[in-house]
Amino acid sequence: MKYTPISNELFTRNRRRLADLLKPKSIVVLNANDIMPTNADGTMGFRQNNDLFYLSGVDQEETILVLFPDHPDEKFREVLFLRETSELIEIWEGHKLTKDEAEQTSGISKKSIFWTHEYERVFIQMVFEAEHIYLNTNEHTRNSSEVETRDARTIRQFKDRYPLHRYERLAPLMHYLRAIKQPEEIDLLKEAVRITEDGFRRLLKVVKPGVWEYEIEAELLHEFVCQRSRGFAYEPIIASGANACVLHYLQNNKQCRDGEVILLDVAAEYANYNADLTRSIPVNGRFTERQKAVYQAVLHVMKEAKKLLVPGNLWDDYHKEVGKIMESQLIGLGLLDKEKVANQDPDNPLYRKYFMHGTSHFLGLDVHDVGNKYRKFEAGMVFTCEPGIYIREEGLGIRLENNILITETGNIDLMESIPVEIEEIEDLMNR
Ligand code: GLY
Ligand code: MN
Ligand code: MN
Repeated sequence: MKYTPISNELFTRNRRRLADLLKPKSIVVLNANDIMPTNADGTMGFRQNNDLFYLSGVDQEETILVLFPDHPDEKFREVLFLRETSELIEIWEGHKLTKDEAEQTSGISKKSIFWTHEYERVFIQMVFEAEHIYLNTNEHTRNSSEVETRDARTIRQFKDRYPLHRYERLAPLMHYLRAIKQPEEIDLLKEAVRITEDGFRRLLKVVKPGVWEYEIEAELLHEFVCQRSRGFAYEPIIASGANACVLHYLQNNKQCRDGEVILLDVAAEYANYNADLTRSIPVNGRFTERQKAVYQAVLHVMKEAKKLLVPGNLWDDYHKEVGKIMESQLIGLGLLDKEKVANQDPDNPLYRKYFMHGTSHFLGLDVHDVGNKYRKFEAGMVFTCEPGIYIREEGLGIRLENNILITETGNIDLMESIPVEIEEIEDLMNR
């Protein structure tokens, strides 16, 4: 990992917060993610399981975390299993965590840290004291992967091996906890945002007619990695001209032309936490009048939507309200007809033709972070705010996206200092 160490107080507190939600006599098992294969002997880069990271800070493959808060023997209340190193591993892969380092990282006592080959022996001393076994699954509502995860394999093996325990879903508890960011997490998100801002300010100096979308991508990656980021928080969207109307445009292989607007949905990760920024800027440094009008409409929707990201509001009401604000902007731009809007099917509003995605999502260890849409907004939640207008017939797409932390009294825009006003963008591009 490139990031600097995180205080283990965060992970210790997270384990305590989870323990408070468990039924008595419960054991919880969390696995590291698999390393995904590519071709031949190739693999994708390792990405830790976010729940395991959240509860331990351990960012190493083949880790297992077992929690049993009311086990009679203190040694078995928080147990970590680590991949033991060897001379071969040291030569080919380099350093792996020692028990001392894992204790320092996680706040779990060294007495309770074992090697993974000891797992069977240790686990059997724990599991029969438990009534309930909490196992993890991916319960993200947009999860559509066909790959069998380590968690899925664990569920099968456990049910075969321990058929008479009562099984519980860990995911809802993790979603509940992770929705409210701890102060240390907010600092990490702010760092991801700060690095993102540096990248954005850097690209403003590079964008001009003739630049290629991938050249902008390379500038950003250079900035991010130089600042201890692993790189992009998600596949970057660098979409000039009509490409901006392709919502998941990832090719980034076109030359940017004079007169076009370029939509940049680009952000850094830091210590597994993700920023999520979108800006739309003129390739030649000056917006046309039409581009300005559309841009101001999107900016207006973002500013109004932000006012609704406050404690007590509900997800569906918020999205409905933002839809109405967008509707009136689209009428103002001459894209929607006022009378047709008045008679539209409320389940299929006309604004969807130009604004076809949601306005917000939870943000954190996952870009589309876990959280429950039926839970009222609360202090500590972090959301994106990302309205957009995509006019395919004009080859113009504009989206703006900031990251908003809900507080007791309202919210804080974590991207406040990232240029968004037309004059500021034009000024910076023409210096
Ligand atoms: N960058 C992904 C999103 O905005 O949701
Ligand atoms: Mn985005
Ligand atoms: Mn987003």
